Amino acid sequence: MRQSGRYLPEYRALREDRDILEMCRTPELAVAATLLPLRRMDLDAAILFSDIMVPVAAMGVEVRIEQGVGPVIPDPMLSERDVHRLRPLDPETDLPFVLEAVRLLRKELSVPLIGFAGAPFTIASYLIEGGPSRYYERTKALMYGQPETWDHLMNTLGSAVLGYLRAQVAAGAQAVQVFDSWVGALDPDDYARFVLPTMREIFEGLAQAGVPRIHFGVGTGELLTLMRDAGPDVMGVDWRVPIDEAWERIGLDLAVQGNLDPAVCLAPWDVVEAKALAVLRRAAGRPGHIFNLGHGVLPDTPVETMQRLVELVHERTER
Ligand code: CP3
Repeated sequence: MRQSGRYLPEYRALREDRDILEMCRTPELAVAATLLPLRRMDLDAAILFSDIMVPVAAMGVEVRIEQGVGPVIPDPMLSERDVHRLRPLDPETDLPFVLEAVRLLRKELSVPLIGFAGAPFTIASYLIEGGPSRYYERTKALMYGQPETWDHLMNTLGSAVLGYLRAQVAAGAQAVQVFDSWVGALDPDDYARFVLPTMREIFEGLAQAGVPRIHFGVGTGELLTLMRDAGPDVMGVDWRVPIDEAWERIGLDLAVQGNLDPAVCLAPWDVVEAKALAVLRRAAGRPGHIFNLGHGVLPDTPVETMQRLVELVHERTER
């Protein structure tokens, strides 16, 4: 969850005034950024430094990532013709730098490496809105008004995501996480009709890859059972649903990841500690709990808080 990011002074130094996408396209920099948080904290896994927009940028869409804003698409997709601008993705030739970063990281790391991709809905929301959005009104307008174009877009992005994740696993990624960060904007019926079929294809298509598959979203309390039906091994949950309640909804046969509110990490330590222990108490030491934040580390988070949090969780979960 943005393990490597602006809360780390050494990340800010590495980044300087470099463009994020440029960093993602330079294996040495992506490797260095991935490793930074592990030098500070005894983390149990590393997540590849990249961005969810890297594949679509390689499929022919102009994408910028603006600091404090997020992905920006100057020429948004609004019609069937626009969707045709997306070339099919061939990870080996279009994204060799990502696969190289994965291979280099496997030589450096003593903890598992998590590969990732954005989910089709979340990527599509940026492509259609042209940037971050509060209500996703253009995305929904296309979904409801041009359902065939929507399905085409989901299929195109779905195939790209599946191929991209398979390539990451082939290069050495030991788990994969699919970030559907903004899909919580949908109601369950629309999720089932407009998103679930593509997500099922992605998770089913990864079943043979032999690595744990994590499915994550924000504000997805009412979608958890449908997102589980897509077929992941692990469900990531944010802090809006208590983790024991979320786990009940998902089913105790799956693993869960979460779910401390990242904003809590800006509070005094005794609050962070109490909130983290509440998550552990609710997870009750059951096998299959991955302690994590419910979303990305915020830029003003004190590094010391993150370090103490990692130590606390290790201390309390040692067997
Ligand atoms: O977690 C990690 O350390 C791995 C790297 C990672 C980044 N982006 C690098 C990054 C991961 C896993 C992502 C995924 C990502 N990117 C998601 C899905 C996960 C989530 O957080 O919901 C989304 C929605 C994006 C799109 C995006 N890129 C946003 C919303 C932002 C933040 C904009 C801002 O400035 O606040 C980015 C930029 C970005 N990608 C940063 C990082 C570390 C911010 C730091 C910087 O500007 O250098």
